[in-house]
Amino acid sequence: MSDTEIVYVHGRRVWDSRGRPTVEAEIMLAGGGVGRAIAPAGASTGTGEAVDLRDGGAAFGGYDVTRAVQAIRDDIAEEILGRDAADQAGLDHAMIALDGTANKSRLGANALVAVSMAAAHAAAAEAGKPLYRHLGGEDATLLPLPQIQIFGGGAHAGGRVDIQDFMVMCPAAENFAQALDWTAEVYRAAGSLMAEAGTLQGVADEGGWWPAFGTNEQALETLVRAIERAGFRPGEQVGIALDIAASQFGKAGNYKLGLEERTLDSAGMIDLLTGWIARYPIDSIEDPLAEDDAEGFAAFTRAVGGRVQVVGDDFLVTDAARLHQAADAGAANTVLLKPNQRGTLTETVAAWDAAKQRGYSAIVSARSGETEDVTIVHLAIGWSVGQLKVGSFARSERMAKWNEAVRIEEALGPMARFAGGAVLGRSK
Ligand code: PGA
Ligand code: ZN
Repeated sequence: MSDTEIVYVHGRRVWDSRGRPTVEAEIMLAGGGVGRAIAPAGASTGTGEAVDLRDGGAAFGGYDVTRAVQAIRDDIAEEILGRDAADQAGLDHAMIALDGTANKSRLGANALVAVSMAAAHAAAAEAGKPLYRHLGGEDATLLPLPQIQIFGGGAHAGGRVDIQDFMVMCPAAENFAQALDWTAEVYRAAGSLMAEAGTLQGVADEGGWWPAFGTNEQALETLVRAIERAGFRPGEQVGIALDIAASQFGKAGNYKLGLEERTLDSAGMIDLLTGWIARYPIDSIEDPLAEDDAEGFAAFTRAVGGRVQVVGDDFLVTDAARLHQAADAGAANTVLLKPNQRGTLTETVAAWDAAKQRGYSAIVSARSGETEDVTIVHLAIGWSVGQLKVGSFARSERMAKWNEAVRIEEALGPMARFAGGAVLGRSK
């Protein structure tokens, strides 16, 4: 028996940052290595995502996961006991075949992703290495440029403003730890601006300040003022990243902006966003158009893709095949990588490989429903992706990730390189 043979598989129900049930998997190997991982959950999910299997019914608003947990204990355990955890692709393909559906709806992508990540952790533990090193070897030295939310809107704030994420990036920081230092000051300054305006009302789902604004653009203005108040030069030291999450309010070429009481077509949305890009220091825009608007995506990318990251989240759903289609059409230039959108690490890394092949950048991303699980930080560094999006700078399910990257940067010492502005195509 090899040391990396799986000898124990367990699923359990634990709880996420919204107080909803979620799935944890635990795996032990013959050599004693143990790995554990928890599935996250989205709220503004793309229709092309693999299925998050929920029980429905009355308990916990229908969000219970007893079926997904049972799938780990029964079908998945039976399939993977005796397999080699060091063969991630073999393990993941066995689970994909066992599920047998195109969207993981039988066993649940939440069950699969927890097991897939737990197996990676177990194999790393068995090798006596941190996961990022196990995945990337000696080359795993690139610390990501973080996108950190300051105001949270859209589906994460009861639709209070249309736009979902108002974030900052610190491309001019010297290292990852300094990017956090700067962000902490901007986050604090934004909170004090809200307090002075009498609109400080707690935080949204990912820890960003509650967006008590009259227009979407007012949020942008406040963000620029927060950057300045924190002592930074907007656009130069600290830039803006937005997640429009346009699938939440746009369908079939109609975009209903609730806050501004108007409906725009695809061209109108593009005008609105290019206007913002002209007036505010915006470096990155995610899901500017809806997931069903590939033509709009391509038109927007033609208009601004040379200077701005155009990120596909709901549009690309961490899917290598969709990324190839988008690249053929010239739509987007960056892909968000969310392991639970597909259900396995192997498929997630396939999307990253496709991105590299087609000249796309990538951002490893958390979900709005998160836990103390920090696997994605190791993926971002282990795969040298260069960017990481985790939500805001508050609440421990977010801070756990930022703190893990701080530890890894410290452990790498002089080997550590910070992705900085170079990932955005900027020289220092
Ligand atoms: P979600 O939001 O996890 O609710 O899908 C995150 C995002 O849209 O990037
Ligand atoms: Zn998104």
